Amino acid sequence: MSRPLLEAKGVHKSYMMGRSPLHVLRGAELHVQGGEFVAVMGASGSGKSTLLHILGAVDTLDQGSVKYKGHDVAAQTSPWQNAYRNHNVGLVFQFYHLLPELNVFENIVLPRMVGSSVLRWLSNGSNARAAAREIMDKVGLSDRAKHRPRELSGGERQRAAIARALVNRPTLLLADEPTGNLDAATGREILAVLEQLNAEGQTIIMVTHDPDIAARAGRIVYLVNGQVQTRH
Ligand SMILES: Nc1ncnc2c1ncn2[C@@H]1O[C@H](COP(=O)(O)OP(=O)(O)O)[C@@H](O)[C@H]1O
Ligand SMILES: [Mg+2]
Repeated sequence: MSRPLLEAKGVHKSYMMGRSPLHVLRGAELHVQGGEFVAVMGASGSGKSTLLHILGAVDTLDQGSVKYKGHDVAAQTSPWQNAYRNHNVGLVFQFYHLLPELNVFENIVLPRMVGSSVLRWLSNGSNARAAAREIMDKVGLSDRAKHRPRELSGGERQRAAIARALVNRPTLLLADEPTGNLDAATGREILAVLEQLNAEGQTIIMVTHDPDIAARAGRIVYLVNGQVQTRH
């Protein structure tokens, strides 16, 4: 087998709860190959979000390593880590986290503007707008471009959030309970979007506590006692 795209080894993470540490991850291991669709299951509070945030470098680990294409993420410079967060990883959350004052198109194009100077934006802005339109089309939102998030259904909000996560063409899509706030039928629609992206080669790690949703992924792992297990 080729080298994994993402390789988490011996990951430990504690949070301080008052004076006593809460040891959430206790040597978690996860290897993900490019093109995989992995579901992470586990009880509420088992550390699923914590693990996802560490994989995406939006949280730090206490011990162990996460390697992306062989690079130890924690050992890199902060510009490298920023580039990793902004370009290699796309994050999707249960509650969408769209900016309410911006319309769908503006929400989606925004990550393309982050870190771009005015001059670069002036020369590259049309590429960014084209990328945003293409991805809106892919998730089926083209006719909602001018809508504000509050004018969208839950499913449409999550499509917009997925499009925003993908506009920089990340290698890795990390989705934290993407169907958790949706009714079953809408959840299946969102899953269909993720399946289609995966069929086109997108690597996806998705946290869920819904076994029917997890069953649609290529592989399921379970977080139990701070470790990743392949069986319940
Ligand atoms: N920033 C934090 N500070 C303190 N405790 C936290 C923090 N984030 C998460 N926790 C705790 O760590 C545990 C795991 O949280 P989380 O990763 O969100 O679990 P899950 O996503 O599986 O429900 C929970 O008990 C939670 O309360
Ligand atoms: Mg969570």
